[in-house]
Amino acid sequence: MRQDRCADDRRVVPFRPLRPEPGVIRVDIRAKRFGVTPILENVRFEVARGETVALLGPSGIGKSTLLRIVAGLDGDFEGHVDRPESMAMVFQEPTLLPWRSALRNLTLVHPELSDRQARAALARVGLKGREEAFPGRLSLGQQRRLALARAFAGRPEMLVMDEPFVSLDPALAESMLSLTEALIAEARPATIFVTHARAEAERLANRILELRGHPATLSPHLV
Ligand SMILES: Nc1ncnc2c1ncn2[C@@H]1O[C@H](COP(=O)(O)OP(=O)(O)OP(=O)(O)O)[C@@H](O)[C@H]1O
Ligand SMILES: [Mg+2]
Repeated sequence: MRQDRCADDRRVVPFRPLRPEPGVIRVDIRAKRFGVTPILENVRFEVARGETVALLGPSGIGKSTLLRIVAGLDGDFEGHVDRPESMAMVFQEPTLLPWRSALRNLTLVHPELSDRQARAALARVGLKGREEAFPGRLSLGQQRRLALARAFAGRPEMLVMDEPFVSLDPALAESMLSLTEALIAEARPATIFVTHARAEAERLANRILELRGHPATLSPHLV
């Protein structure tokens, strides 16, 4: 009898290692509000090193809000997030510096890269020969490739992307998706990305999480 109770007790004790595992994103958001409006409630999940998690949900539900908390850009919430130190972010807009060459856009963010490494990183995303071009002289697709090169050049342990392929024509979206897939496979960061497209989520992610309700909470789906 007594032994049974012990086993039960052990089962309800939440397992929490003393020190977070390296390379893992661990999210525990009890509540996030804007003013008096609750946006997120009891959002808990982990993303392992090398794992890709897609975040789906209707417009205005709180996906970008959750991503900003995960990335450490918004600290105004109840709860806790453990994240790896080296992180890269990719947003809808490439956010490049217009008066710096493609090469400088890369090396300003990654001063540790040698000239040879920076050129190799550009070549990896198909920008060989365009090293000295300013972003305004690059096509939209090339600008996005440069943003990807910049994100991955530091070999991030963690990658956060908010609708990175939205509003691209299908051919460009497809080539960006393939490139991102390949770069993730090489660097194997813990990745979390927001998308509206279920097909995109199913292609890129090991696991899909969906935000639902007001305040929003998670309903997990297996791919
Ligand atoms: N800085 C802010 N101050 C007040 N309310 C905000 C702020 N940012 C977002 N909100 C509100 O929080 C809710 C969630 O916004 P969020 O941008 O996270 O949605 P989303 O799921 O990313 O939507 P979308 O798919 O359209 O990008 C929305 O109702 C939005 O109006
Ligand atoms: Mg959003």
